[in-house]
Amino acid sequence: MPKTLMILAHPKLEESIGNKFISKSISKQPNVTVRHLDKLYPDFKIDIKAEQEALLNADVIVFQYPLFWYSTPAILKEWIDQVMQYGFAFGKDSYGLADKKIIVSFTIGSPVKLYPKEVIEKITFPLKGLAEYCNVEYGGAIFCNDINGYSDEAKANALKNAADHSEKLLELINS
Ligand SMILES: Cc1cc2nc3c(=O)[nH]c(=O)nc-3n(C[C@H](O)[C@H](O)[C@H](O)COP(=O)(O)O)c2cc1C
Repeated sequence: MPKTLMILAHPKLEESIGNKFISKSISKQPNVTVRHLDKLYPDFKIDIKAEQEALLNADVIVFQYPLFWYSTPAILKEWIDQVMQYGFAFGKDSYGLADKKIIVSFTIGSPVKLYPKEVIEKITFPLKGLAEYCNVEYGGAIFCNDINGYSDEAKANALKNAADHSEKLLELINS
């Protein structure tokens, strides 16, 4: 298992079905560190040095989050804006993460039929672009649909989808 850093963004992890399951199950693997941004930085004051150090210590970086308005939760965007600085992640001779791999992993509340390939490509474009801009290998995007607890049946289905997602994510990390 490569040294894996999961950057987890979820403002209400205690109420989560999908991201709670996925982050817990991946954290049980050897060599995995999970940094839950909302817990570390409830005031959005990100410790840039600590985050950059954590990135440098990893081989694989996983962005894990629930889809919010076709995008990431605000804290992950803030984290990217603060941490992926010129002179660290990109710039003349400063591609500090160039030997690493980025994987994008997210959960979606709505069903598959609302998220065809073209929509997923649009959603993942900014994070794929970030990897390319920083000369980091893009390890691909992985997502699961129907992650909601609207009924007991929906919740059970969401948990099953999250479990399948975790297995696929593990394969992707190890590939
Ligand atoms: C602010 C907000 C925005 C959301 N936007 C979307 C969206 O654009 N598309 C979608 O299918 N679900 C959307 N959802 C639903 C979440 O994606 C869904 O609740 C989440 O993936 C479930 O993961 P969890 O069990 O870890 O909380 C949104 C939820 C919230 C709270």
